[in-house]
Amino acid sequence: MISSFMTKKPENLSIVIVGASGDLSTKKILPALFALYCQGFLPEDFRIFGFARTPLSNDEFRSRITEHLTCRYAPSESCADRTNEFLTHCFYSPGKYESRESFLDLYQFMQETEKSQATNRIFYLAIPPSIFLDTARAMAGAGLVICEPGSYWSRVVIEKPFGKDRESSDILTRGLAEVFSEEQTYRIDHYLGKEIIQNLMVLRFANLVFEPIWNRSFIKRIHIDWKENIGVENRGGYFDEYGIVRDVIQNHLLQILALIAMEKPVTVSSRHIRDEKVRVLKSISPVTLDEMVLGQYTEGITNNISNVAYTREQAIPADSATPTCAAVILHVNNKRWNGVPFSITAGKGLDSRSSEVRIQFRELPENIFCNVPQCLPANDLIIRIQPDESIFLNIINKKPGLDLSLVETNLNLRYQSTFSGKIPDAYERLILDVIEGDKGLFIRSDELAAAWDIFTPVLHKIDRLKIKPELYPFGSSGPSSIQKLLTKDD
Ligand code: BG6
Repeated sequence: MISSFMTKKPENLSIVIVGASGDLSTKKILPALFALYCQGFLPEDFRIFGFARTPLSNDEFRSRITEHLTCRYAPSESCADRTNEFLTHCFYSPGKYESRESFLDLYQFMQETEKSQATNRIFYLAIPPSIFLDTARAMAGAGLVICEPGSYWSRVVIEKPFGKDRESSDILTRGLAEVFSEEQTYRIDHYLGKEIIQNLMVLRFANLVFEPIWNRSFIKRIHIDWKENIGVENRGGYFDEYGIVRDVIQNHLLQILALIAMEKPVTVSSRHIRDEKVRVLKSISPVTLDEMVLGQYTEGITNNISNVAYTREQAIPADSATPTCAAVILHVNNKRWNGVPFSITAGKGLDSRSSEVRIQFRELPENIFCNVPQCLPANDLIIRIQPDESIFLNIINKKPGLDLSLVETNLNLRYQSTFSGKIPDAYERLILDVIEGDKGLFIRSDELAAAWDIFTPVLHKIDRLKIKPELYPFGSSGPSSIQKLLTKDD
């Protein structure tokens, strides 16, 4: 993370993408690797080995990925050359995920292709978590993974969902630990790779104006709002098993909350940052049903297009009770935050695509301007994650004129206009950190366990009581009960 001022480029590298023909690989991982290549972050001696069930030759694999490689970091006149050079480093070996024999074939192919006997290896498991364990065991059985700490390393990258509750997550963690040590395991939460999320710690701990007021005495509430204006699209099968709480709240949004609420780490080392995140997650009480709203979208029209109800989407059972929208209130029980509600709302099929954090400050005591002409709202700090990364501070000003009239205004920092240069994609940042062995932006196993402890009891209760979500039309602002929940303490 912040520590990556120096590059720790290894002298050689093989990247194995298991599940190389899928969307994650072609749309995110390979374009990010290409971007790193164009910027000179990959060693000269590097190879990418695609591995998946689809039978493809090297050339077929290369032509499949070419359409997704964009030259963000290569001048347009050299784009074709850079792309072709990159493709010469890409290879493909078909096989079955849980088969040791398939990985033995891959291993042999890698040894024939690699220049050196001793190579650093990254295994990116871009496959469903249900087959993580068997795949990892098959890889280990084929002798692909170097376990001994030494001058050459093997690292594994996995992506959520890491289980469905604390227990299944622990089973996954223990199973993977048979093959890869915690040190070798990089659990991605791609929100942590987003530029503005990385800025949260800097904003808090590098600015004197924020740090002293970042507590219950000055902050009234904190709200994290995440919206998508699309449905589940072609991921219905996955989504219906998990629902919105497991899909984005327990991971992406809780991670944001942890960065906002945690205490200052002793240093910016990955160990200290993650120690503080674990500490704050452990001080959050488990969510209760009375501080939660669940919703599911029904049909609705947006921009003259009619959208089907969730239960009519592909691969979704007609009686599914899976929530596509949820609101929760969390309580951080420590000296800094006691009594400050942290709310999170997240939903698909809503009226817009945006995500932001709103830090609402308390009203000024004895405000002498309260009747000029009326008391204006207290200050707000808004951190907009997407679509356009920005930071706004709402402050009260005198409106220019001969009378004394107050107005609420914005101090704006818009990334697009303030910072020249490109904003790296989250996967570029994260894959570079895996290459450099920097774990600050990855989820440690105790952090994962603490995050599940907050949600597991309520998720079990929802399943046991078969709680029905409240319906809301596609394209609306979500279930009406959300507003009631969010304002219940006002
Ligand atoms: C994924 C979720 O982790 O994040 C998706 O599974 C969601 O449901 C996606 O759409 C959102 O990511 P981003 O980066 O587009 O906000």
